[in-house]
Amino acid sequence: METVVISLGGSVLAPAVIDYEFLKKFRALLLKLTKEGKKFIIICGGGKTAREYMVAASKVVRLADEDLDWLGIHATRLNAHLLRTILRDIAHKRVIRNPNEKIDFKEKVLIAAGWKPGWSTDHVAVLLAKNHGAKTVINISNVDNVYDRDPLNFPGAKPLDKISWKDFRKMVGDKWSPGLNTPFDPVASKKAEKFGLKVVIMGKELANLEKFLLGKPFKGTIID
Ligand code: UTP
Repeated sequence: METVVISLGGSVLAPAVIDYEFLKKFRALLLKLTKEGKKFIIICGGGKTAREYMVAASKVVRLADEDLDWLGIHATRLNAHLLRTILRDIAHKRVIRNPNEKIDFKEKVLIAAGWKPGWSTDHVAVLLAKNHGAKTVINISNVDNVYDRDPLNFPGAKPLDKISWKDFRKMVGDKWSPGLNTPFDPVASKKAEKFGLKVVIMGKELANLEKFLLGKPFKGTIID
């Protein structure tokens, strides 16, 4: 059975307060799906925690970009430990940092976090997928679809069911910077296209995630 990589945005896992109702439902869904034989690698974002630490430190001194990133990375690691803790019975006991590390895990779930400055968790997710033979990365965040135009500036923007890497990359460009708000990191997108991966953009509704995993119609955008 193919492993699926899930990039779980910090905006979902740790918005203003930790959404433990979401975590309860996420755990229940993973227990159900892993019993049916599915395997997952889940990489956690930094969310509000990352942003709060970056903003606070920046009010005291002017931080180097690398130090801003390290605060973000540690927030992703804290979130990853939270997830590993609530999945103790089915997850590998160590949280993975380096996506290129050779790791032969027997458990049904592997949890990963941020790796190094200048990267995003989307970027790490793409490397994890390549290294573990996964064909699909599901990006769960507060962005529920790719739209034909920027929905913040164009109220009439329409959600897309599908978009090619070529068209998506035309839309998001080539550069990534911390806090950038595109549905998927442009640098990670370039690699995902090169590796022949499919990235699925969806919101945090778990019934919708289950529908996608069962091959049923779902709400979201497939990029491939
Ligand atoms: P992300 O931006 O990937 O997490 O990491 P996120 O919270 O899911 O992002 P949203 O909510 O989708 O926008 C948080 C920050 O941690 C640093 C970056 O500064 C990033 O903005 N980071 C993360 C790294 O520097 N390297 C990594 O490998 C991962």
